[in-house]
Amino acid sequence: MQELLLEVKDLEINFYTYRGVVRALNGVNLRINKGEFFGLVGETGCGKSVTASAILNLVQNPGRIEKGEIIFKGIDILKMSKEEIRKDIRGKEITMIMQYPIAALNPVINNGEQISEALIANIDITKNEAEKRTIELLKEVNIPEPEKIARQYPHQLSGGMAQRVMIAMMLSTKPSLLIADEPTTALDVSIQAQVLNLLKDLVVKYNTTILLITHDLSVVAETCERVGVMYAGDMVEIGELKHIIDNPKHPYTRGLINAIPSEKRTKLQEIKGSVPDLVNPPSGCRFHPRCTFAKSVCKQKKPQMLEVEKNHLVSCYLYDGQK
Ligand SMILES: Nc1ncnc2c1ncn2[C@@H]1O[C@H](COP(=O)(O)OP(=O)(O)O)[C@@H](O)[C@H]1O
Ligand SMILES: [Mg+2]
Repeated sequence: MQELLLEVKDLEINFYTYRGVVRALNGVNLRINKGEFFGLVGETGCGKSVTASAILNLVQNPGRIEKGEIIFKGIDILKMSKEEIRKDIRGKEITMIMQYPIAALNPVINNGEQISEALIANIDITKNEAEKRTIELLKEVNIPEPEKIARQYPHQLSGGMAQRVMIAMMLSTKPSLLIADEPTTALDVSIQAQVLNLLKDLVVKYNTTILLITHDLSVVAETCERVGVMYAGDMVEIGELKHIIDNPKHPYTRGLINAIPSEKRTKLQEIKGSVPDLVNPPSGCRFHPRCTFAKSVCKQKKPQMLEVEKNHLVSCYLYDGQK
């Protein structure tokens, strides 16, 4: 039986900008089980990072969470005080790595001390023990010469090494959930694969859960067990990776998969049109202006997320008998 770790329920977030109200998340639903490697994929601007920041209740001004719940281990994070989240959740239960690790690390503290400090701040450990544990952690993320790297500063690291240091730091407290927002986007392709493999190994070794966020479906395809596909602030499809790749249901997902080069395909297909401006998003299903199957109902009302096959959910009128 799978145990539910995180449930995002009907999350709606707007940004109040001078251009108008950006309707960034339009009622997003998502469930992540304990111990799974979940991938969230979609084009830039579709709301992946906003979803991640909401999970830690870190949505920045001018953003506002209008509606929704973030149930983590049975408790709604959005109902916790900032102080409670800082004390009990962020950095302990839920940690996050991002696209630019060097920017996220403290430039004036050496790599080893950053990890030791995170350990001392979050778990009951002496300075000596923390230093020892830091070297072990650096070894676990496959850093060669961990003692040397520990004495160096972030700016002396390559992007790939810095991401490993970041991962070591974010795993130091044995979090229940590690959110990785575009962790390999800024890295060379060969290094990307190494970091993704490392994350995959760590899910097993640490029995942690990973939410991997990326605009690149091939990154998800190499790592994740389940995938959520977002489009313009909506979750349009969720399912096991294999199901989604072999049998995508939503026309947008089909378009995404057709846009990946493959040996079988001779011609790449693009999704016609462009991503909408979320200040004035399309009515109904936000994908309808670009969808070759759009009917009148698609313009009127957002389709519900329905389970069309076992563990395969889709939000599209093609599948609910109303077409
Ligand atoms: N600070 C902000 N101010 C205004 N709009 C924002 C802000 N942050 C995000 N948005 C808007 O929210 C939407 C989702 O952004 P984001 O989650 O960063 O996308 P992704 O991570 O999928 O590329 C985008 O339309 C973006 O313009
Ligand atoms: Mg992002």
